[in-house]
Amino acid sequence: MKAMIKIAPSLLSADFSRLAEQIRAVEEGGCNLLHLDVMDGNFVPNITFGPIIVKAIDRLTQLPLDAHLMIANPERYWERFREAGADWLSIHIEVTKNPYDTIEDIKKSGAKAGIAINPKTPVQKIEQLLGIVDFVLVMTVEPGFGGQKFDPKPVEKIKLLKGKINEIEVDGGIDDKNIIQVLSAGATTIVSGSSIFGMGDPKERIQKFCNIIDEWQRRQSGQKM
Ligand code: DX5
Ligand code: ZN
Repeated sequence: MKAMIKIAPSLLSADFSRLAEQIRAVEEGGCNLLHLDVMDGNFVPNITFGPIIVKAIDRLTQLPLDAHLMIANPERYWERFREAGADWLSIHIEVTKNPYDTIEDIKKSGAKAGIAINPKTPVQKIEQLLGIVDFVLVMTVEPGFGGQKFDPKPVEKIKLLKGKINEIEVDGGIDDKNIIQVLSAGATTIVSGSSIFGMGDPKERIQKFCNIIDEWQRRQSGQKM
């Protein structure tokens, strides 16, 4: 059976003055979830939005919300994002004091729990958590800003994780060219911001990504035969 590859547009690069319209466009394009980049100006050198905006977004869409918490003290704040409507929640290993308990608590709340790793953080740091997390988020840029250049080095980590965890989300600088590299390494959820919202019609961009994924999957199953 073909693995379901998911595409998660990051709203970070969307036009927030036309949020409803932008969300509708990626919905119509056929995306699977919405990636929400929460930044605190502490763990990362940028500030975005908090639970109030997540709650507003939740009212605008039926799509699952994937909250990527780039915040210090995620154990103190994740629940507010869950209450605001987040269905997937990822916290960063670099700033989580008790990742095991926090992941268990997130799962108990009914959300999918993920552990995120920066480009320079080795897979060994999360090895102990692979048995309990629902997904791992591998960063291919330093967290903090949209529109950065894709770093190919963390792709090796995707390969290491493949087979050890079902869901591997990859985030940062992914476009319609380097997507093949991350898919081939084992990514199952693709996050993309500037390449969806910064390059013309977001609906058409999602469709383009979906076509590339379909074509790649067709080639994969052809090779197996
Ligand atoms: C970076 C964020 C990413 C990123 C995605 O800190 O976590 O989600 O903004 O946007 P692009 O695709 O522009 O890198
Ligand atoms: Zn992100």
